[in-house]
Amino acid sequence: MVCNGMGGEGLDIGEAQQTKGQPVDVVIFGGTGDLAKRKLLPALYHLNNSGWLGEGSMVLGVSRGNIDSAAYRDVVREACQQHVDAEYFSAAAWDSFAARLHYLSLDATSQEEYAALAACLQQEDSSGDRVRVFYLATSPDLFVPICQSLATVNLVTPKARMVLEKPLGHNLASARLINQQVGQVFQENQIFRIDHYLGKEAVQNLIALRFANAFFEPLWGRTSVSHVQITLAESLGVEGRGSFYDKTGALRDMVQNHMLQLLCIIAMEPPISIQPTAVRNEKLKVLQALKPLIGDEALRNSVRGQYRGGIVDGAPAPAYVDEPNVPDDSTTETFVALRAEISTWRWAGVPFYLRTGKRLAHHLSEVAVTFRQVPHLIFGSSRHMMPNRLVIRLQPDEGIKLGLMVKAPGERMRLRSVALNLNFAETFKARQVDAYERLLMDVLRGDLTLFIHRDEQEAAWTWVEPIMAAWAASEDMPRPYPAGSWGPPSASALIARDNFAWFEES
Ligand code: BG6
Repeated sequence: MVCNGMGGEGLDIGEAQQTKGQPVDVVIFGGTGDLAKRKLLPALYHLNNSGWLGEGSMVLGVSRGNIDSAAYRDVVREACQQHVDAEYFSAAAWDSFAARLHYLSLDATSQEEYAALAACLQQEDSSGDRVRVFYLATSPDLFVPICQSLATVNLVTPKARMVLEKPLGHNLASARLINQQVGQVFQENQIFRIDHYLGKEAVQNLIALRFANAFFEPLWGRTSVSHVQITLAESLGVEGRGSFYDKTGALRDMVQNHMLQLLCIIAMEPPISIQPTAVRNEKLKVLQALKPLIGDEALRNSVRGQYRGGIVDGAPAPAYVDEPNVPDDSTTETFVALRAEISTWRWAGVPFYLRTGKRLAHHLSEVAVTFRQVPHLIFGSSRHMMPNRLVIRLQPDEGIKLGLMVKAPGERMRLRSVALNLNFAETFKARQVDAYERLLMDVLRGDLTLFIHRDEQEAAWTWVEPIMAAWAASEDMPRPYPAGSWGPPSASALIARDNFAWFEES
């Protein structure tokens, strides 16, 4: 074990603080795992480059593997070369980052081993005064043991921050238990429950769009909006995560967290400020106002599917049950479509359709807000008449499109729908900051605005759990859909019942 670096001053926690340039410690449990390699370490590489990890900072990878810091740096270098754009990877930047990188082999379940962790960290910061981030990129079973063990070796200082990666539990009871037990060690304002969707630029732009422009607000609600669609479609399959995914399914993996968070951002009332409590309280109210889907209501308003073999992006793709580590008789859903309603004055009666799945036709995440038709058409009938639609594209090609009716050039009044199109990459030529980089920066600053409060997380489970229960009690199986399609036909039927169609079908 080698822990090189310099000591330094820390900052108070509890409110957003600027820690740029200060020495900080970032300890990643699951330091050799897939998330660390694909996202966290490349994000930290960029943060170091932009001056967020001050002189003497330490990035400590922790896992059970029996390697030393030198070997870890080799692993991380390969990961960064793979996941950082070549134009931002340089030998000098790497050397600076590598100097902060260390590794500690530790069995997270063995309390005795934490003394070595404390020694490693205290070697650089004996007063325990600097901001110290513990990032748990591990299975949720380890969250509580890790927090308790950190406490036994006095690593839970006022400036310690705990980042919990999803899944945070498997259902309401397990999430509550984790929250309660982690809460006995860390204060709520030290706990950063991460949902990487909130770190996506386009999601924050949705907040900007709604609350930095005057003209959306009067239209944002039941009198002007006919319905909202949220699509998080992936063309990838389960990508070697078969055993995890089979116990999880699309409802837990995507709806309980990412989709409901997006729905909150779309539907929340204007918060009084961008401060964490203000924003998180408004999101919580949306979750609490979701009309419960219980028993037959859940079955009527949900569709679950599972992919069969097919063609995706021009290449053959196997059926879900033929993926490694997935049982042949699996009934896990790889697709979900839901019709939700929010029981508030603003949204009563406006359907929110949510759809997510693996092995769909395209990789596409977007929110589409469709407005009502004009109340009276002065032009007589026009087959080209389309309702206005605001589409916020999260990925790929982040941007915002507003569909407007205009007159086509020519002598006659012929109407056409055209889009006002804002493509972020073309408009802002700056490097796109990855969601994890953005959120890790917020952790360093101590800004909780884009993290999930315990109450939000539990409210999300409270809404999702009866749907899981209704599925479990029903004899229906997930509907099959070919890989490379838009999901089972019953998903189209779900929305067609209200005389709407999924956006790409209309
Ligand atoms: C993760 C899910 O939270 O989000 C994955 O566990 C999913 O199954 C991923 O693939 C999607 O994230 P993104 O940013 O690629 O849309």
